[in-house]
Amino acid sequence: MNTGTLNRFLLACLVAAGAANWLIHLDPSRPNFEFLPDMAHSPAYASFSANPVFADGKTIQEPPPGAVPHGFRPLHYEATDQEAVRAGKELSNPYSLDDKKAVERGAEVFANYCRHCHGAAGWGNGPVVLRGYPAPTSFLAPESVSKPDGRLFHIITYGRRNMPSHASQLSREDRWKVILYIRTLQRKAEEERKKEKAQEKKPAQPPEATP
Ligand code: HEC
Repeated sequence: MNTGTLNRFLLACLVAAGAANWLIHLDPSRPNFEFLPDMAHSPAYASFSANPVFADGKTIQEPPPGAVPHGFRPLHYEATDQEAVRAGKELSNPYSLDDKKAVERGAEVFANYCRHCHGAAGWGNGPVVLRGYPAPTSFLAPESVSKPDGRLFHIITYGRRNMPSHASQLSREDRWKVILYIRTLQRKAEEERKKEKAQEKKPAQPPEATP
C-alpha cells in the first residue's frame, strides 16, 4: 500500500467515525455504558443517604447516650473556681520533680506557650504584658505557691478570666509537666529569698582596728 492510498483510507476511517458518533448521538448528561457497575454503584448505603433499614431513616446513626470516642479520657470538672478547688483536692501530678526529663519537657512547654505572658521567671511580666495585656498574678506569690498542682492543672486546662484554656494546645501530660517547671521557678525564687535574708542577718562587721 503506498502512502496516498493509506492516507485516503485513514481519512475515510475518520469520516466514518465522525458520522457514527453523530448518528449514535449519545446524551452527554447520562452515564455511558457501565462495565462492572458494582464499582460505580456500591451496594452499601452511603453515609448520608436515606436508609429504609433504620427507624429514623438515616444511614449514620447517633451514638448511644454516654458513648465516648475510643481513647477519649473524660475530665469530670466544670470550668468554675469551685471546681478548680475540687480538682486541687482530688488530682495529683503523675510526675515528680525528681523526673528530670519531665521537668525538661515542662521547661520547653513553658518557653513556647507561657513565657510570653508569665515572663521567664514567672513574675507575670512577659512581653505580651509589657504591650498592654492584663498581667497575670506572679507564680512566685505565696497564693500561687500554695495552690496544689491539681488546681493549677484545672486553670491551665479550662482557663480563668484572662488566662486562656490550653486544653487544645497541650496534652494532659504536657500540662502536668509544665506545672513541675513552675514549681522549679518557685523553688529557685524561694532559695534566693532565703539567701538574701541570711545575708541581711549577718552581724555587721566590726570596723577594722586602727593602730
Ligand atoms: C495570653 C497570656 C497568657 C498565656 C499565654 C498564659 N497565661 Fe497563665 N495566666 C494569664 C493571666 C492573665 C492569668 C491571671 C488570670 C486571672 O486573673 O485569674 C493567668 C493565670 C495563670 C495561673 C493561675 C496562677 C494562680 O496562682 O492563680 C496558672 C497556673 C497559669 N496561668 C499557668 C499558665 C501556663 C502553664 C501557661 C502556658 C501553658 C500559661 N499560663 C499561659 C495569662 C496567660
